[in-house]
Formats: sequence, structure tokens, C-alpha cells
Amino acid sequence: MTEASLNNNIILSQKVRDFYNETPFPDYSLDKFNDIDELILASYPFAEILNRSIPKDASIIDVGTGTGQLSAFLSVGRKCVWGIDFSDSSLNKAKLLRQKLKLDSWYLKKVDILDEKQIDNIGMQFDYVLCLGVLHHTTNPYGAFKNILKLLKPNGFVAIGLYNKFGRIALKTRKLLTKTIFRNNDKVKDMFIKMQIGDIKDKERARGWWNDQYLHPHESVHTIGEVLKWFKKNDIEYYQTIPSLNFFDEGDMEIAGVWNRDNGKYPNLIKRAIKQLSWIYKTHREGGYWITFGKNNPIK
Ligand SMILES: C[S@@+](CC[C@H](N)C(=O)[O-])C[C@H]1O[C@@H](n2cnc3c(N)ncnc32)[C@H](O)[C@@H]1O
Repeated sequence: MTEASLNNNIILSQKVRDFYNETPFPDYSLDKFNDIDELILASYPFAEILNRSIPKDASIIDVGTGTGQLSAFLSVGRKCVWGIDFSDSSLNKAKLLRQKLKLDSWYLKKVDILDEKQIDNIGMQFDYVLCLGVLHHTTNPYGAFKNILKLLKPNGFVAIGLYNKFGRIALKTRKLLTKTIFRNNDKVKDMFIKMQIGDIKDKERARGWWNDQYLHPHESVHTIGEVLKWFKKNDIEYYQTIPSLNFFDEGDMEIAGVWNRDNGKYPNLIKRAIKQLSWIYKTHREGGYWITFGKNNPIK
């Protein structure tokens, strides 16, 4: 990499950090959570499935945890759940939540995942490494992926959430519309964000989502094949994706959990192409987001 592109990456990374310091994500009003029951009640369906899929005695690290609603929820009833992020504002909000709900098994630390030294300084490995919606906002997604694998135990499980190259097309189109013909139309903007998050009553959350999806300084898009390559190169065994790559039994995850090898046969190119094309419509509400699950292969 040339010095110029290295410098550009440093500047861009700083922009992303400034962005999340300005508008932490997913963000929420702290008044929403007065006790642990309210935190549990507010958890979205995917978080519940994830929670059910992870044993209570497992250690978890949520990489790029933001304001930490997911890691806070996963820490309930567990002894060791970490949330790391490089945004001070996001971590500060998370710390207020931890204090308010006395979530003593939820550990928060400032870490830039592009910095291998900062990863090494964590000094431990986890049974589960979650990295949801983070790598596509870094200047080196594969480098960051390799760094966070250092946090995974030899038999540990990993989940990587990214924007899909095809699935993101509709969001990119909406983005263009909000910058041109609907630039001054708040009703349309509200409608677009409602499409993604259901309701916009929690203004902090709605603002967080709007900025994250429509005003972000940097995002990249990826394909399933690319992530499979990342997995293969690093001895991560592919398990499955959400949305599923199966044609007929897409509801299985509800029952079998998200780290179920039997849920997904290794997807060949044709299957990946067909599925990703279908995601243009199918995942348009989620902004073309998908998650790949895998397991660290102990035979290294
Ligand atoms: C879209 S948010 C996702 C938050 C959370 N994982 C979720 O799904 O709700 C992306 C998060 O990644 C963090 N992030 C981006 N680049 C990072 C980096 N290089 N090191 C650590 N965190 C980073 C941001 O600060 C932000 O909180």
C-alpha cells in the first residue's frame, strides 16, 4: 500500500470514528430501560434467537458493539460478555446503561479493530465472536476480520454481518432519492427509516439509524463468495447464513439456532448467485444486510 493511500485510510477511519462519536449506534433513550426486564422486552427477534443459540456459560465478545444494546442483553444471565468499539460516545452511553442496570458481567473497552496491538492487549479469547454491521465501515474489512479472529478460541463460533453487494441496491437507490427529488421531504425520509426499524417513536434510535444508513461517510459492500473465501483462508468452517441460502426450509433457524451446520449445505456459485439476486428485494428493508455464521476449525 502506498503512503498516500495509507494516509487516506487513516483520514477515512478518523471520519468514521467522528461520525459515530456524533451519532452513536444503534442508540436509544436511556429512559427506555429502567430495569433488566425492560431490556429483555425490548430485544428484537434476532437477538432472542442469538441468545437462545449461545450456551449460558459461554464467553462472548461483541465487536463494534456501539451503544451496546445487544451485548447488554446477552450479558443477562452470563458471566463474561464483552463489548468493544472505537467510539467514545457510543461506549459512554453503553457505560451509563451498564451502571443503571447494574450489568456487572458486561465489560466494555475501547478498541480499534484495525490496530492489531489493541486487539492483542485484550489478552483473552472468547467462545463466541460477534461482529455485526462493523467490517463494512472499516477501511480494511478483511484485515479487520483477521484481527478479530485472534479473539476466537480454537473451537469458538463466529458471526459476521455485512452489507450485501446485491441486497444493498434498493437502499442505495433510496439514498439517491433522499439526496435529490426527496431532499426536502421529511415524510418520505420518515417512511424510508420506518421501513427499516418499524416505528420512529424513539427519536434517538431513529436518528441513529437514519445517520447510519443514509449519511454514513464510508461503507463497502460484499458478496457471500467473498466471505466464504475469508473463512476458508482462515480455517473457519462455514455453517449457515441469515437469510438462509436454502431454498425450502428458511424457517429452520427459529428451531435449530444460528450455529447449526445442518442448516446450510456449502453454497455453490449458482445457489449464491440466485439467492443474492433474490436479496435485492428480500433484504431491501434491512438495507441488504446478511450474517454468515461459522466455527473455528481446531485442526490447525
Ligand atoms: C453500524 S454500527 C453497529 C453496532 C452494533 N454492532 C449493532 O449491530 O447494532 C458500527 C459500529 O462499529 C464501530 N466501528 C467501526 N469501525 C471500527 C473500528 N475500526 N474499531 C472498532 N469499532 C469500529 C462503530 O463505532 C460503530 O459503533
